Amino acid sequence: MISGFAKRDKETKDHHMKPSVLLMAEVDPFHALLPELEKVCRVVRWRPGSDDWKKELSEIEGIYVYAHINVDGPLMDEMPKLKVVSNFGVGVDHIDLDAACARNISVGNTPGVLDGATADMTFALLLAAARNITKGDRFARSRDFRFYDPSFMLGQEVHGAVLGVVGLGNIGYQVAKRAIGFDMKVVYHNRRKNEKAEKDLGVEYLPLDDLLQRADFVSLNMPLTQESSRMIGSRELSLMKSSAVLINAARGGVVDHEALLDCLIAGKLHAAALDVTDPEPLPRDHPLLKLDNLIVAPHLGSATEQTRIAMVQRSVKNLLAGLRGEPLPWLIT
Ligand code: DGY
Repeated sequence: MISGFAKRDKETKDHHMKPSVLLMAEVDPFHALLPELEKVCRVVRWRPGSDDWKKELSEIEGIYVYAHINVDGPLMDEMPKLKVVSNFGVGVDHIDLDAACARNISVGNTPGVLDGATADMTFALLLAAARNITKGDRFARSRDFRFYDPSFMLGQEVHGAVLGVVGLGNIGYQVAKRAIGFDMKVVYHNRRKNEKAEKDLGVEYLPLDDLLQRADFVSLNMPLTQESSRMIGSRELSLMKSSAVLINAARGGVVDHEALLDCLIAGKLHAAALDVTDPEPLPRDHPLLKLDNLIVAPHLGSATEQTRIAMVQRSVKNLLAGLRGEPLPWLIT
């Protein structure tokens, strides 16, 4: 056990020897993170609603972002020594990249290590929505389940169906790979053609409208950018088959939720399965949460112990490199 004196002594030493890093987290971080961070820096905890951390801003050399807290230009300007922003995760739509670039601040993320886990989750949502698993679970626990009824809760066939992947980057590639194992035909839409995926997996590029019309399942796996914001709205939803399933494991902001609500209420889709929403979480009385043809998960795409550990390792390596003024191993800008 560390005594009060030894603890103060360690804090004083850290203060003088280690660079200060602002840990932006609204929740307690994953168990493996703090020990790793403390090896390389003095951690200053960001606390919304308190001003204590603000006294430290002039000393901060790095920001570590945990769970999508906004990092903008004005915040960066309060930290004259800031060299690096390291993000726990791959999506960086909450970080103003142009502002960082203009201030010569490096930004890093954790690509590669979460593709498999996020693709597994995408597929779990696809199967659950196609085969009424969550609805069936609720029913099977209820008093209403009294006899087996062969005409009941008929789902959509997965094998042999067409999957449309919107955003065929690293995660989309893994989703496509899983779909092929399920004997699905895979079409995709992306900013650029993915020749590797076409060659390796035999996937076919389609313009977005064609993909929406042809697919039985549409999986959204693109990053949230100005271009992809609200990319799936009422026009796009109206192009989809009424038997189709929409899966979103990207960011809530890529889908217009009002349009999705209207579409699901009118029964114009078989179902939607969302791992992400906008806002996140949705207000508890949001009408989407009342629908039986919607599955919603609390942003679990990369949520496995193994993947989280790999994310800690990459993000701490990025942070350390940035603090030393070296190129980040997983640099965005
Ligand atoms: C990601 O990697 O972007 C996930 O959403 C977790 O932050």
